[in-house]
This record gives sequence, C-alpha cells and structure tokens, in this order.
Amino acid sequence: MKALVLAGGSGTRLRPLSHAIPKQLIPVAGKPVLAHCLENIAAIGVTDVGLIVGDRGDEMRAQLGDGAALGLRITYIRQHAPLGLAHCVRLAADFLGDDDFVMYLGDNILADGIAEVAADFAANRPAAQILLVKVANPREYGVAELDADGRVTGLAEKPAEPRSDLALTGVYFFTPAIHEAVRAIAPSPRGELEITDAIAWLVARGLRVDASQFHGYWKDTGKIDDLLECNRVLMERRRGEVRGTVDATSRLYGEVVVEPGARIVGSVVTGPAVIGAGTLVRDSLIGPYTALGRNCTLLGAGIEHSIVLDGVSVRRVRGIYGSLIGREAAVCSAIDDGHRRLVIGDHATVEVA
Ligand code: DAU
Repeated sequence: MKALVLAGGSGTRLRPLSHAIPKQLIPVAGKPVLAHCLENIAAIGVTDVGLIVGDRGDEMRAQLGDGAALGLRITYIRQHAPLGLAHCVRLAADFLGDDDFVMYLGDNILADGIAEVAADFAANRPAAQILLVKVANPREYGVAELDADGRVTGLAEKPAEPRSDLALTGVYFFTPAIHEAVRAIAPSPRGELEITDAIAWLVARGLRVDASQFHGYWKDTGKIDDLLECNRVLMERRRGEVRGTVDATSRLYGEVVVEPGARIVGSVVTGPAVIGAGTLVRDSLIGPYTALGRNCTLLGAGIEHSIVLDGVSVRRVRGIYGSLIGREAAVCSAIDDGHRRLVIGDHATVEVA
C-alpha cells in the first residue's frame, strides 16, 4: 500500500497569505497542515508517499525533505497546472504501479486519524472507499449518495442541487482499478479532471465503492477561520513540555509547549499554547490557543486565539485576537503622535480599532 498526497493547486482563498506560503505549509498547532496529513499516513503503516507539488514544490521539499524524519519515503511529483484531483492520479501512475493506495488531500485535517477506514478498506478491498461527513453546505464539496447497505450509488462534485448532505472528505482508498477510470473521464465544466467523476465511473461499471462515515474532527482548511479552528482543536490534544527557558517572574498555565531555545521573560502564557524554537517572549500575555512560530520576538505583546508564523515581531501591541500573522511580519504600535504608519502588501486586510 502506498500514499498519494496532493499539495499542488493555487490556494487563492487564503490570499494574501498564500502568496507568501502555500496553504499546505501553514502551521496549525505548531506543525504544517501537510505534516499532520503525513503523520496520519505514517500511523497506518504506509511508508511510500508520492507528493504532488505545484510551483511551490521547492518550499515543500525544504520543509519535509525525503520524509525520513516522519518515518516516510517521499517521492516528489511535479504537476505543472492544477488540472484536477484525477489528473494527479494520472501523473502518479508510474509511482503507484499495481499497488493499492490512499489518496490524501494535503489541505485536509483529520484530527482523529484514518486508522478505522484503512482497516475497513484492507478487510473488504472495494475498488474505492471514500470517507463521508454530514455537512450543512454540501454545495461546497463532492457529494455522495448511498443505498441502504451503505454502497455508493452516485457522486457529484459541488452540485448546485445536492442529492444528499454527505460530503466527501479528502481521503480516498483505491485499488489499481482507479487508473482505468482516471484515463476514461473528460474534464468537468470547470476544466478539471474530477476524482468524483472517476469514482462515479467505477460505480457505473458495477465495481464496488464503499463509504465510511467519519465521526471524528475533519476540516478542509481552505479558509483562514478554518485554520484557526483547527489550531484550537489540535492544540487541545497537545501536552505541554518545556524545553526552552522560563524565567522566575513568568507564569505558565495549562498545556504550554516551549520549544528548545525559546525564552519567556516576565510574561504570562496560558495554554494551550506553543512557543516556537528560538522565540523571545518578554513582558507579554500569550494564549490561550496561540501558536507562535520559530524565531519570533514578542515585546509587550498580548495575543490569543492566533497563529503566528516564523520570524514575526510584535512590539507594544496588545489585544490581538483570532489573527493569522505571516512570516517575518512586523506588528508595532503607532510611532508618531496619533498617526499610524502602515506598509501593507497586496490583498491585505487590516482592521484598525
Ligand atoms: O476537502 C474535501 C473536498 O476536496 C472534496 O469534498 C471535493 O470533492 C474535492 O474535489 C476537493 O475539493 P476542493 O475544492 O477543496 O479541492 P482543492 O482544489 O482545494 O484541492 C484539494 C487539494 O489538492 C489541495 O491540497 C490542492 C491539491 N490539488 C488540487 C488540484 C485541483 C492538486 O495537488 N492538484 C490539483 O490539480
């Protein structure tokens, strides 16, 4: 069994952040979304991973390398344009060979892992097995229809009139039967080779397609609020651990991870919180539900329910809430009497009280 992880695409919904960092590399609870995917894959005992990357592949390689740190062997597969999820399977045909595989969308977070569905697939080996979740807004997802035995009878990608409220999550298990299906289908009206069409092709030919309902926590991290919610959920599951330094005048409450080289001075940190390696927190109030990246500087700062990427500096600004701050950004208080000086990149949203 192999894994195919999809991390190409353009990530336009996360602009302006996705100009600077691919959405799959945005950290939640102190680790990139993609690392959470790969950990779930490693946990079911799969080691051979094909990783589909677009033009941000070099950044992914810089972070994940050959995968050895996660116990995996990653083969990078370049996709020149986001032509669809089924296009990714076509591209990976040589890598996948005759093996069964799990296909995992690199922007999906499944906080409870995929062990149960992996065991179902191994026991029954249908041509395809999908993982479904009941949603309130099925028009935004691939949608499946089931018969009384839980077999899939129909699928549609982002239908205007959904025939069920069961959305496909971004985890699929396939036997090699899928290769003929992805070769047989044509692009959808939005110009993509849809994996939902390839699975529907299997159903139409009478091949067995099973569905498992997923009852754990699942999120397609397409939007900033989704990332913040995932951050909260995953942080609640992390245990505190102090590997940096905390001076005698500081207080840590709850589960706080202080990574090596981080320094907390004259500050209060309320968990769950992660203070990234090499970060300095001085005279500040941090947390709860806040993950600070590596090598940040927070002086006189107050921040909660937020994700802060690497190299950020926050000086004399309190009351930061529900925020996502991109790499190397600087947030500081007004410099001239009553005047605010702002240097803001394209597509930014700035909320000033
Ligand atoms: O998250 C679940 C949904 O994911 C499913 O319900 C839908 O059926 C499925 O089509 C997919 O919809 P999205 O619109 O969320 O897909 P997105 O374009 O965001 O791509 C998902 C991941 O796959 C993301 O990491 C980018 C990557 N990708 C996407 C395309 C279209 C590629 O690597 N190559 C591609 O060509």
